[in-house]
Amino acid sequence: MKILSVVGARPQFIKLSPLSRAIRKNFQEKIVHTGQHFDEEMSKLFFHQMEIPLPDYNLGLGGGTHAEQTGKMLIALEEVMLKEKPDMVLVFGDTNSTLAGSLAAAKLLIKTIHIEAGLRSFNRTMPEEINRIITDHTADYLFAPTKTAVNNLSNEGLINKTYLTGDIMVDSLNQNIEKAIQSSNIIYELNLTSEDYYLLTLHRPYNVDDSKNLEFLLQKISDLGKKIVFPVHPRTRKVIVENRIKISDNIKIIKPVGYLDFLRLEQSAAKIITDSGGIQKEAYILKKPCITLRTETEWLETIYEGWNILLLPNDDNFCEKIINFNPISKQNDIFGNNVTEKMVKYIFELIN
Ligand code: UD1
Ligand code: UDP
Repeated sequence: MKILSVVGARPQFIKLSPLSRAIRKNFQEKIVHTGQHFDEEMSKLFFHQMEIPLPDYNLGLGGGTHAEQTGKMLIALEEVMLKEKPDMVLVFGDTNSTLAGSLAAAKLLIKTIHIEAGLRSFNRTMPEEINRIITDHTADYLFAPTKTAVNNLSNEGLINKTYLTGDIMVDSLNQNIEKAIQSSNIIYELNLTSEDYYLLTLHRPYNVDDSKNLEFLLQKISDLGKKIVFPVHPRTRKVIVENRIKISDNIKIIKPVGYLDFLRLEQSAAKIITDSGGIQKEAYILKKPCITLRTETEWLETIYEGWNILLLPNDDNFCEKIINFNPISKQNDIFGNNVTEKMVKYIFELIN
């Protein structure tokens, strides 16, 4: 039995790593990398560090508008699928690579599993929301990470093809956190000490694409008066460089780092400020207060449990709200565990 895994962006490599390892014990796997993310530190580094087998196909389709990118991927993925004739296609998350993979497979009548199904922000201005809705409605089987995701799928009439598996990123994190603590030197290299800094990431179009907006946001974050470590996503880097945005001295700008260095930075941070989906989950699992710079989140449980707050730069008392945010509540098992094992068990049942 042959499985074709479609990936293209940084968080998808992280999700693929534990699953690919487990799949290969029982099935033949081919990996297609669409090339959506292509910088060394956004792509190759993850394959190397997380021991993901090198892709069988790299389509080299990064950049462009949404339609250009998704359209080219759709054409190229169809070709790969026609050639490989997989028994099952796996797509992950909510990027343009996810959308192209699920559409190409659906039209060829190849059974597809959507991993990380059922997330909804109910904000259709996010490209990811469109990608998720289409993928959930076209895929044959939906692996949901949380109960909220299951409820969302149920509300859209998709419960019959939904499986509550937990979140695969739990396994990615558990398989790498000890290694990160033992082997990453990033804390020393950046001259940090444990919990003397906040970790920042930004890449959502509504936060970074407008240079004035981004400049204001970075100024507000600098006003926290804390040491901020900021690995800059390429989308954000472009806006900073093209508009020559001046960054205050207390914000330490670095290139995106590999998964092990990033886990280490999270694990030693006092707080995490982000607009990333994956990082909100990792902050929760690592018991770090998380400030999410968005109007809504798909990870409602982290808010209900008191470990995550939503904040915008023009909110009253922005700095005070961040500095005074100190969750103490006990945590529940909201993302599950042994997720890979559950997924592989379902794949066995569904592929036959
Ligand atoms: C994409 C996903 C988003 C996900 C994020 C993870 C879509 C619509 N968006 O956003 O859901 O949260 O990845 O990081 O699929 N670029 C580089 N080098 C790279 C990668 C990108 O220079 O290695 C540039 C691209 O050329 C492009 C810009 O960054 O101009 C944005 O890249 P793109 O993949 O379109 O969207 P992301 O913002 O990365
Ligand atoms: N990450 C990383 N290096 C970095 C920033 C993030 O390895 O410099 C990892 C992080 O641990 C998480 C994932 O990338 O697992 C999140 O990806 P991203 O924020 O790009 O996308 P999203 O989750 O928002 O789709």
